[in-house]
Amino acid sequence: MDTTHPSERIDRFLAVERPALPCIVVDLDIVRARYMALHKQFPAASIFYAVKANPAPHIIAALADLGANFDLASPGEIERCRALGISAARLSYGNTIKHERDIAAAHAAGIDLFAFDSAPELLKLSRAAPGARVFCRLLVRNQGAEWPLTHKFGCDQHTAIELLLRARALGLRPVGVSFHVGSQQTDPRQWIAPIGQAAEIFRACARDGVDLSLLNLGGGLPANYRTLIPDLAAYAETIETALTADFGAARPHILVEPGRHLVGDAGLMRAGVVLVAERPHPGGPRWVYLDVGRYNGLAETQGEAIRYRLRTSRDGGETGRVILAGPSCDSTDIIYERTHYELPLDLVAGDWVDFLSTGAYTASYASVEFNGFPPIRTHCI
Ligand SMILES: Cc1ncc(COP(=O)(O)O)c(C=O)c1O
Repeated sequence: MDTTHPSERIDRFLAVERPALPCIVVDLDIVRARYMALHKQFPAASIFYAVKANPAPHIIAALADLGANFDLASPGEIERCRALGISAARLSYGNTIKHERDIAAAHAAGIDLFAFDSAPELLKLSRAAPGARVFCRLLVRNQGAEWPLTHKFGCDQHTAIELLLRARALGLRPVGVSFHVGSQQTDPRQWIAPIGQAAEIFRACARDGVDLSLLNLGGGLPANYRTLIPDLAAYAETIETALTADFGAARPHILVEPGRHLVGDAGLMRAGVVLVAERPHPGGPRWVYLDVGRYNGLAETQGEAIRYRLRTSRDGGETGRVILAGPSCDSTDIIYERTHYELPLDLVAGDWVDFLSTGAYTASYASVEFNGFPPIRTHCI
C-alpha cells in the first residue's frame, strides 16, 4: 500500500497538537507549491481557484496572496472572497444555475464575468447583469473522470454558437467558451476534442461578427488517490499541442479552474476507529467502523468513486480484507465495500485511520448534523 504523503508538517502537527478526531489537516505550503507549479506549466493562463473544492478562508487567502482569481458557485462563496478583501475583478460566477436575484447581487458587487449554458439563464443575465461578460459552457464527454460532471451542465456546439450570438443581441458581452472534462480526470487527452470544438465555435461566431477571446479549460486536474495519474506536465503538453493545432497564432486568453489539484494532496483526514466487528457472525467479513463516513467528510466515496489511500496507527503487521463504514445509523453510510481494501488484522477501536489526499471536496461536503455528528473540523497549518 502506498502511504506516502507530501507533508511532514502535517505529521508533526498531529503528533504534537493531538487534535480531537476526526479532523482534517491542510498544509498551506503544499497549496502554495501546487499553485506555483501550475502557474509554471500554464504561464499565460489565468488561474481561477474553484472555491467549492475547499472554501477554508486560510486557503483562499493564501492563494489570493499568490495572485489567484476565483471561480465561485454561490452568493456564500462570493461573500467569503469579498470578506477577505479580494476585488470583484478577480471573481468569476461560474455556476450555470443561478437565481436572478443572486446574479443581480453579484453584478452590483462588481462581478463582471458569468457562465451560462441555456437560453433562460442568458435572459436572466441580460436582465440582472446588463453589459456583463459571459461565457458559454459546452457539454463534453467525461470519459476518464473518476468524478464526472457532465449531462447536468453544458449545451451542444450548435446551441453554444446560437446563444453566444444571442448574448450580443441581448446587450451582453459574449467573451468565450468553457467546458469541464470531469473531476479527477485521469486522461490528459480528454481536453483535445473540446478544445477543437471551442475553436469551431470561435470561428463560427467570428463569421457573424462576434469575436470571442476567452477559453476556459475548467477543472479536472487530479489529486493522488489510488489510481496512478500522469504528471501535470503531461496535461500541460497535451493541452498546449491542442491549442496550437486548433487556434494557431490566434490563441485566446486561457483560464483554468482547478479545485482538486490545488488542495487535494494538501490535506489529510484522521479518523478514529469506533468498532471492528465480523458480520453476520464471527468469521464473516470484517467491518471497520470509523468516526467519519459518507455524511461527515467522505461524500466522494459515493459509488466508491474516489478511492483514497489509507494509513493506520497499526501499519506494519499482517493485513486482511475489510469493509469500511461510517458512524451513522444509515446503511448507505458505507465507505468501501466492493473496492478491495486491506487493513491491519490487529486494528481495534481507539486506533486511527488516515485518509490521504483529502484536502478537496471533504469538509465542505459534510452534513451539518446528520445523526447529530458535527461537521468535521479543518486545521490549516
Ligand atoms: C465550473 C467548475 N469549475 C471548476 C471546478 C473544479 O473542478 P476540479 O476540482 O476537478 O478541478 C468545478 C467542480 O465542480 C466546477 O463545477
